[in-house]
Amino acid sequence: MVKLTDQEFLELTGFVHKNYGIDLSKKRILIEGRMSNMLMANGFSSFRQYLDFLYADKTGNEITLMLNKLTTNYTYFMRENEHFDFLIERVLPFFERTRTNHTLYIWSAACSSGQEPYTMAMAIDSYFGAKKKSWNTVILASDISMNVLEKAHKAVYTAEEIKDLPPQWKSKYMVDLKDGTFRVCDTIRKEVVFRRINLMDSFKFKNKFDLIFCRNVMIYFDAPTKETLINKFYDWTADSGFLFIGHSESLNKEATRFSYLQPAIYQKRGGK
Ligand SMILES: C[S@@+](CC[C@H](N)C(=O)[O-])C[C@H]1O[C@@H](n2cnc3c(N)ncnc32)[C@H](O)[C@@H]1O
Repeated sequence: MVKLTDQEFLELTGFVHKNYGIDLSKKRILIEGRMSNMLMANGFSSFRQYLDFLYADKTGNEITLMLNKLTTNYTYFMRENEHFDFLIERVLPFFERTRTNHTLYIWSAACSSGQEPYTMAMAIDSYFGAKKKSWNTVILASDISMNVLEKAHKAVYTAEEIKDLPPQWKSKYMVDLKDGTFRVCDTIRKEVVFRRINLMDSFKFKNKFDLIFCRNVMIYFDAPTKETLINKFYDWTADSGFLFIGHSESLNKEATRFSYLQPAIYQKRGGK
């Protein structure tokens, strides 16, 4: 096992925090546990050697590999299903009345391996049914980790991974590959566009979003990082648009410009 010195630990966690907003200050054992084998396999006998190599790599590949090791990508279909109920019962009927151009821009920010944006696309398709053809709905799904984006793009999941999907959605939207795995059908796949986006960067999009999901990633960020991110989300949310966050997360009600609707659901109502 390659051990971190105090200095290396401070340097590595400072670097990750500054560039990616992720707070690893209490994760010394996790870092050693997850990275030690990779260091040894690549001939590094200390984190010092590895950090110098990391800084010298201008391709960004090494940083991606490191983030793949250190971030938690846990996710599943229908996670926090109250959000999908709210989407179907409140958000989509609201937009059906108000978005006369029949266009919706949606963002799954920190989508991990794709279960979240695909669940959104299934909810939207099942809500609109035959009317879906007259709607242009675009779901941008992004993450910092290329590993998870690759899996998301393939859209192949095991029977265990899709067990929480409602049976009708399973039979309508998942193609049985007859080898114990299932692929999300083309109709749903083509609704989702994947991109690598670091939530710490400034955002540049063509359109503002009607709905942003940013769930179970801000728990890794400290308060100022989170506040900056929420402000960027606000600026990129269309008027009357919604923000869904994880149920174990919360926004500072005094500080945020979003209006609170119910746990983990906010709306941009303007005038605040
Ligand atoms: C626990 S998963 C959450 C997935 C999904 N939103 C959910 O709730 O199930 C957290 C994801 O955040 C991503 N992440 C961490 N830091 C990030 C950053 N600075 N920018 C973009 N994504 C980040 C990780 O790669 C990981 O896939």
